[in-house]
Amino acid sequence: MSVVPPGVERVLFTEEQIHARIREVAAEISRNYQGKSVKLIAVLKGSIFFLTALARHIEVPVSIDFLGISSFSNKSGAQGVVRIAKDLDEAIEGEDVLLVEDIIDTGFTLRYLLQTLAGRAPNSLAVCTFLDRHSRRIVQVPVDYRCFEIDDRFVVGFGLDYNQLYRNLGYVAVMGPKKNV
Ligand code: IMP
Ligand code: MG
Repeated sequence: MSVVPPGVERVLFTEEQIHARIREVAAEISRNYQGKSVKLIAVLKGSIFFLTALARHIEVPVSIDFLGISSFSNKSGAQGVVRIAKDLDEAIEGEDVLLVEDIIDTGFTLRYLLQTLAGRAPNSLAVCTFLDRHSRRIVQVPVDYRCFEIDDRFVVGFGLDYNQLYRNLGYVAVMGPKKNV
């Protein structure tokens, strides 16, 4: 593997490990959605890398759609304020929806998305995340499929960014303590 970029400490999951695990999760999804089709919904931008890799290995009919969100702290400093910046192109009423996430951290983003999507009457709504940092969870959210559980370190690659950089790394890496990039 090539040398990691400056600011990056070490590789956590190699490209090979990632693809092997994604194939396992895709097989599980294919079994559970047998006889149905599944709509994958990803949150821009990080999750598109995981969505495309996952979709390629799912063996039931797949459609895709995207949501754009912005999350911020409000004036009083309350965490977890999320709003939709780009809505889905199509309705999800009656569909079997699988929400595809890059990472679940505090759970605020996912809770908001689940509430929003549940209000649109899908036939079913499940969650598939690439990474899960359960130790930092503040609000409890259901997670149906996860590729990897990670410790409390900031990670980049395979869609995950630091200041919009590193999304294109094929592997997942731990950022160095200074994040000096
Ligand atoms: P939360 O679950 O609402 O706290 O937020 C999850 C979002 O925070 C993810 O969709 C990422 O955009 C971002 N995020 C959290 N942890 C990391 C990380 O380690 N690297 C890159 N982005 C992260
Ligand atoms: Mg981000």
